Amino acid sequence: MSELNLILLGPPGAGKGTQAERLVDDFDLPYLATGDILRQAVKDETELGREAKEYMDRGDLVPDDLIVRVIVDRLNTDEASDGFILDGFPRTVPQAEALRDALARLDRSLTAALLVDASDEEVMSRISGRRICVKAGHVYHVETDPPKNDGICDQDGSRLVQRDDDKPETVQKRLSVYHDQTEPVIGFYEDAGLLRRFDGNRSPEEVHDHIRATLATLKLEGEL
Ligand code: AP5
Repeated sequence: MSELNLILLGPPGAGKGTQAERLVDDFDLPYLATGDILRQAVKDETELGREAKEYMDRGDLVPDDLIVRVIVDRLNTDEASDGFILDGFPRTVPQAEALRDALARLDRSLTAALLVDASDEEVMSRISGRRICVKAGHVYHVETDPPKNDGICDQDGSRLVQRDDDKPETVQKRLSVYHDQTEPVIGFYEDAGLLRRFDGNRSPEEVHDHIRATLATLKLEGEL
């Protein structure tokens, strides 16, 4: 099978990270989530983290040049040479163009852009109940996907916390940034014939089944 180069698109809280965890298990691909990379950089107080923090706390996007450098460098390593899942990148049309050009320089291309969509109302209720583990960022929801033991990650036993940018006013801002700056990326991939849409309002299992079926069809069509 040729390499599987996937991106996950969609509003905050649509379930991109939730689906990515499942796809990583299915296909054993490296997973690059720009939000996780940036949150780790903030925690480690690196130069990237110091630059990114103020934008993230406001619910704004970090500048394109900052995040493009991080991702392009990672794609150009052995880690991602047999395929990848990108979550949270690209988020602007210039980022999408930079990704296309960087892959072309490596004589590679994207397999598909997977859009997991959900309504603003659904997103608000999901994000308010989201909890992540401090060790690896595993994702839970207090009502729809609770851990077996309250406040403790099933996978690594670490503590579950709420993300700093999951306050309601910051989520509103992230949603409006999504509509203004990231929705045009959907058209970019539609024009390139790479877009595949999934109804993120459905259960995690249904969304996962739909994505797997779509990837299987792409394989049968010889695109993988
Ligand atoms: P990032 O971390 O990428 O946040 P996001 O895109 O806003 O997405 P989320 O992580 O909030 O949501 P998700 O879709 O992964 O949902 P999840 O699976 O967790 O980015 C954070 C910040 O970093 C940005 O604001 C920006 O500042 C910066 N940044 C990142 N990338 C950047 C870039 N490329 N350029 C510039 N700046 C960048 O699910 C949410 C909740 O719902 C969970 O509790 C989950 O259990 C539950 N859930 C999931 N699926 C379902 C379902 N189907 N049904 C019911 N509940 C569900």
